This record gives sequence, structure tokens and C-alpha cells, in this order.
Amino acid sequence: MVETLNIEINKVAESRLSQVDFNNIQFGKIYSDHMFRADYDQGEWKRPKIEPYGYLPISPANQTLHYGVSIFEGMKAYKHQDGSVALFRPLENQKRLNRSAERLCMPDLPEDIFMEGLTRLMQLDKNWVPNLPDTALYIRPFMFSSEEYVGIKISEQFTFLIITSPVGAYYTNPLKVKIEMEFARAVKGGTGYAKAAGNYAGALYPSKLAQQQGYQQLIWTDGQEHKYIEEAGTMNLFFVINDTLVTPELTDTFLPGITRDSIIKLSKHLGFKIEERKITVEEVVDALKSKTMTEAFGVGTAATLTSISHIGYKGTDYEMPNSAGGYFSSQLQNNLEDIKTGKIVDPFGWIHKIT
Ligand SMILES: Cc1ncc(COP(=O)(O)O)c(C=O)c1O
Repeated sequence: MVETLNIEINKVAESRLSQVDFNNIQFGKIYSDHMFRADYDQGEWKRPKIEPYGYLPISPANQTLHYGVSIFEGMKAYKHQDGSVALFRPLENQKRLNRSAERLCMPDLPEDIFMEGLTRLMQLDKNWVPNLPDTALYIRPFMFSSEEYVGIKISEQFTFLIITSPVGAYYTNPLKVKIEMEFARAVKGGTGYAKAAGNYAGALYPSKLAQQQGYQQLIWTDGQEHKYIEEAGTMNLFFVINDTLVTPELTDTFLPGITRDSIIKLSKHLGFKIEERKITVEEVVDALKSKTMTEAFGVGTAATLTSISHIGYKGTDYEMPNSAGGYFSSQLQNNLEDIKTGKIVDPFGWIHKIT
């Protein structure tokens, strides 16, 4: 890649790498040595730089603290057997970041800032990419208003940062999930399709209630009628009904996952029958009762592919016949992970190697 940005680089005096126990990494607890930063002011992105990971001074009147002017992305870097570092479909994250930015009246982040910042950061912190099974370097690009102003208006100052964190599995066991029939995460015309911080804050309370009832996750249904299946808290959903994979068709109320898109393409490549369409709660419950639903799983960058063992609906828990995963989920999981980690050839051009 030709470098065009003038990125100022300020390295750590001493790496924290030796303090990390890579055999026991908890998701989201450890951050790598450096972070990338760019600031937006007077209509342009300025001062791209890499600096030691650290706290940010912030005004108590910062717009993000008061009005949630904040969006983020989630992606992963993998260590390949030849020691190289590979990203998975990074441009899809850049494009989605900008779709979120548009919805929240935040500035577009150009591809060169995103990709060059990411590349330089990966080059510097490549030793932070773990190589044990089920591990990766989680990458969190995010943008927020850095303007000091109490009052509702479109911000004029923003900060974009990329921080990274070595991670293990997000979920270690198949999930017990509940179909949410009361609360809503998003409504038509709202911000559900954007990766906006506020979407996640609003989902905490219903998730807490579900956890108190013994579920690990929710299946969100449409906010209007609770008639259609949408997504889970951190994952898009797939069901196997009568040996056909089905997944909700995209709407503006849930996140168009990059893993979802990859699973759809991979399913077609593997010759699986797959349908993107509206899925009613009734269809899911009927398929659970008649046991024509044989597998259910969620997919996402953090969650990878996580099987669903039980689905709760109005007080009844239905156990999946293949509760620990079945043919479709294991084929898709293995193929996707093998592409990401370079164990098999990537027929899609999804892998972006850092050189
Ligand atoms: C609400 C929600 N849905 C779906 C996903 C899956 O998206 P992706 O596959 O792009 O990680 C995520 C993950 O970040 C999410 O937060």
C-alpha cells in the first residue's frame, strides 16, 4: 500500500506485552501498546497520529457525554501460520462506519485515513496479535464528538480513534436466548442499522431482565408488532429449518453484519440452500415445536459463530435438537475460521494482509 498520509508516530518507551498472559485473555480487558488518532475540526480531518494507548482528557461539557454522539466498529486481525497479520474485510467496516456517521450527522472518515492508520497500527503492534486457537486481535475503531457544548446541535469537532485488544472467545458455550416480546431495540426510521453507542445502552435493561431469567442473550423482534425476528444483542441470526438456512432480510432496524454477509456468501459457495427473508416469531416457534428447526446460531465479529441451545418464548424454553451445533453451523464455522486464519485459500478476496 502506498502511504500518502503523514502519520506522526510516538512509540511507547516500553511495551506492556510481556505482562500479558495470552493463555488467559478475557475479552475486552487488555489493550495493546498504541492507538491511532485523528481529529476533525473546521471541516477537515487533521493531525493523524499514533501514540501510546492512554486516557483522554475530556471536557465535562463534551457533547458525547450528554447526547451520545458516538459510533463504533468491531473487526479482528489474525495471525497466519507464516507469521503474517491478516485483516478480514476491513473496507466493509470503513463503509459501515460512514453509514453510521451519516445517520448521526458525523463526518465521513476517508478510506485512506482508516486504512493507513490501521495498517501502521498493525505494523507497530503486530506482536499483540495472538496465535492460539480461537484468539485474535480485536480492533475497535470509533468516532465521537469532541466538542465542548451543552445544547443540542450538530457537532463540529470529532475524534476518531482505533484501539486494539487481544481476545479469546466472546461466548464459550452455546447460548440460551429469549425472544423479546415487550421491549424494543430499534424502530423503523430509527438508528438500528447504525453502530451507534446509544443502541447498546438502550438494550442493557431488557438484557439484564433476560439474564435474571437465566438467558444469556435476547432475540430482538420488530419494535412495532413484535411479529418479526430481527437480530440478537451482538449477533445476526441464522436458523436451519427443513434443511434450509434462513436469516432475516435486512431492514433499517438492525445491524447489517459483515459476518452475516460472509456467512450468506459462504453458504452459497458451499452449495447450501439459503433464504434471506422475513421470519415471523410464529414460524420460529412452530418450527421449534415440530422440531423442523434443527440448528440456530448467531454470527458476529466478536461472537464468531455461536450456537443457540435453547430459545425461550413466553415462558417456555425450547431445546434445539442440535443444541451444541450441527452440520451447517460446524461447516460454516470451520470454513470461515479457516479462511480468516489462512488455513484454507480465500476464494472471496476477503483477506487483507498487512505487509
Ligand atoms: C447488534 C449487532 N448485530 C450484529 C453484529 C454482527 O456484526 P459483524 O458481523 O459486522 O460483527 C454486531 C457485532 O458487532 C452487533 O453489535
